[in-house]
Amino acid sequence: MADFTSNFWNWFIIIGVVGGIVAMFWLNIWQSERRRSAEEKAKPMGHVWDENLQELNNPLPRWWLNLFYLTLVFSIVYLILYPGLGTFAGALGWTQVGQYDREIAAAKKQFDPLYEKYLKEDLKTLATNKEAIKTGERLFVNYCTTCHGSDARGAKGFPNLRDSDWLYGGEPETIKASIMNGRQGVMPAWGAALGSEGVFQVSEYVLSLSGRRVNEEAALAGKEKFKQLCVACHGADGRGNHQLGAPNLTDDIWLYGGSQKSVMETIEKGRSGRMPAHNEFLGEAKSHLLAAYVYSLSRSFDPERERR
Ligand code: HEC
Ligand code: HEC
Repeated sequence: MADFTSNFWNWFIIIGVVGGIVAMFWLNIWQSERRRSAEEKAKPMGHVWDENLQELNNPLPRWWLNLFYLTLVFSIVYLILYPGLGTFAGALGWTQVGQYDREIAAAKKQFDPLYEKYLKEDLKTLATNKEAIKTGERLFVNYCTTCHGSDARGAKGFPNLRDSDWLYGGEPETIKASIMNGRQGVMPAWGAALGSEGVFQVSEYVLSLSGRRVNEEAALAGKEKFKQLCVACHGADGRGNHQLGAPNLTDDIWLYGGSQKSVMETIEKGRSGRMPAHNEFLGEAKSHLLAAYVYSLSRSFDPERERR
């Protein structure tokens, strides 16, 4: 209501609504008066159907008119109590946003303790608590599947959370930080610096790190360029850096696809995957449960970790 761009629309609506009500009152009163004079004799209106069925100018029945008065009184009371007259907020001060906030607050009061009771528990312990993991899974389905998929296996550009391959690290606290604070991957574009031949050579080297068969000569030239441009983030051995979210390039697991074309596109144009921060939206208690759930997924994936 308060977002009218000019006062004109405010008055346009007030005059329209008030004018409408006044006109309806006047119409009702006029109809009531006609009733009195009509007691004399009802006149035909000149419309005839089926030979002898005539329309007479009988007045509206009293009870019918009273219903109209009732609706008019209702609309006046409503417009005094609730917003409806231009920018007038109504005597009760009701707003949609206010009602929404109250409902959310009531739901929080009811459900938050269910989540908060887990907050004190260590994430590794929590990951073995079946009930907590079930709750975490429900939260995941609600808030995370749009990007990471209902099975948490991800998609192109959205990391698989089931495996033990991490951009930022798979320790429970790191996972929690990813969820709460979000992440921003920054892989610069190298097309201009490398040229198309250079991009090809570096891609050959990158693919060779995962054991692909490549053109030796091109890969060797690519290795030199990799040493100059890429090791700062991906490491001298290409195994990546959790601090920067730079992926391991030696494991044949690909965030953006492992075909030559995809790898070349990544190198030429760069990539910038964004994981939105969820702290403000979900709060710490839910993020805690989600972290335990995600951690439990990756744990059950990797048998070696299980033994440790
Ligand atoms: C809008 C899409 C989107 C949503 C919603 C989303 N994520 Fe993400 N998430 C991403 C992207 C993209 C990345 C990778 C960021 C990058 O490339 O640096 C990511 C990364 C992560 C990581 C780090 C993975 C790693 O390998 O280190 C975790 C953990 C994670 N998300 C968990 C979640 C959870 C739990 C939820 C639900 C609360 C969620 N995400 C919701 C897009 C999303
Ligand atoms: C400033 C740090 C930085 C530098 C320098 C850098 N990268 Fe990256 N690279 C990243 C990050 C971070 C990602 C992940 C991007 C994302 O999450 O969206 C990435 C992603 C990639 C990927 C995609 C991997 C996958 O799983 O799909 C390839 C391939 C890659 N980089 C190759 C290179 C090559 C080759 C160079 C040198 C020419 C290079 N990078 C230089 C930070 C860097």
